[in-house]
Amino acid sequence: MQGLHTYALMGEAIGAAVLGASGFTGGELVRLLHGHPGLELRFLGGAGSVGQTLDEAQPHLGALDVGAMPIQAMEPAIVATAADLVFSALPSGSSAGLLPAIVEAGSRAIDLAGDFRLPAEDYPPWYGFDHPAPSWLDRALYGLPELFAKRIADAALVANPGCYATAMVLGCAPILEAGLAEPGPIRVDGKTGLSGSGRGAMEATSFASTEDAIRPYRFPGHQHTPEMERGLALATGLDVSVLFVPHLIPAVRGVVTTCYLPAAPGVTTELLTSCLAGAYELRPFVRVLPPGAMVDAKRTRGSNVVELQAVADPRTGTVVVIGALDNLVKGAAGQAIQNANLMLGLPESVGLPTAGVWP
Ligand SMILES: NC(=O)c1ccc[n+]([C@@H]2O[C@H](COP(=O)([O-])OP(=O)(O)OC[C@H]3O[C@@H](n4cnc5c(N)ncnc54)[C@H](OP(=O)(O)O)[C@@H]3O)[C@@H](O)[C@H]2O)c1
Repeated sequence: MQGLHTYALMGEAIGAAVLGASGFTGGELVRLLHGHPGLELRFLGGAGSVGQTLDEAQPHLGALDVGAMPIQAMEPAIVATAADLVFSALPSGSSAGLLPAIVEAGSRAIDLAGDFRLPAEDYPPWYGFDHPAPSWLDRALYGLPELFAKRIADAALVANPGCYATAMVLGCAPILEAGLAEPGPIRVDGKTGLSGSGRGAMEATSFASTEDAIRPYRFPGHQHTPEMERGLALATGLDVSVLFVPHLIPAVRGVVTTCYLPAAPGVTTELLTSCLAGAYELRPFVRVLPPGAMVDAKRTRGSNVVELQAVADPRTGTVVVIGALDNLVKGAAGQAIQNANLMLGLPESVGLPTAGVWP
């Protein structure tokens, strides 16, 4: 493991694998990794797309010099031989059965699915399956870089956080820790664009169903509910409960979480803002907005940035914390590469965009 840190610091490229290379987050991983100076793409894995080349599966990546790379079956020993670092962008339930064998074969891994984010007993009710490798759940590190960077550095297996949970936990943790809000039930309203559902076309996410539609979904059973509770507990030591209602909106990318917390006495918007600004002062990917400014997920598109704002509403005794990010970048592939940088002893921002695509 120490060897990997040394290679990265010496400037030699580390071999990387992307499992799920034909999917939305897999495509973002390939796009971002291609511009990373310390990581070199050496293996692409898939299921139904095995036998295709990258440019056949992801035509928008066809002009890259890796466009002719084949997508291969994901045999653990072969993946581990090809790559020191493995990014798994497979559906939930698939990486749990695969990554332990890959790590045992000598690679380090980052899972973008939810397969290593929760305790074993949470998988049947929230994910609908019994975890096939429960002993690995304690070994996996919850990879929220702004809060757990030191621990991530030595991890062999990192559970990359979910998109909603990233925005929510980054916004609420410093405020709860500073005692500016009471740890009562936190009500969270989430909005997501359609790419959050993955590439497989379904009637419910088709253009015909979603054009002009705004609708709640998977309430009260969305799997990011226990992840938000656990992420806050890891960050603050507090036991909080979360009520989470996600909504689908007719956009392609973007997540916004609006969180309502009971305010501590005397809290002002200025106090909340300086709390967030102080917590993330040196963090390259957190942008805390001044009082009066409002977050916009569109500004974060294509970047690894999360925008945060916090407002006190003394009339109702409420603290409102809002976060916005690109679900495929800071909510998935970008954050995974940020974790990889920490695991390799590199500055966390290497190879990652801080400027969004506009308009
Ligand atoms: N989309 C987001 O905004 C987002 C954000 C954060 C985290 N995530 C997580 O990232 C993971 C990938 O999401 P996505 O949106 O990229 O999904 P996606 O577009 O549907 O892609 C899924 C990928 O997994 C492969 N795959 C499908 N079924 C498989 C199976 N049974 N066994 C092995 N591989 C299989 C597919 O390969 P073939 O095409 O070759 O079959 C494809 O490459 C999910 O766990 C998701 O929860 C997604």
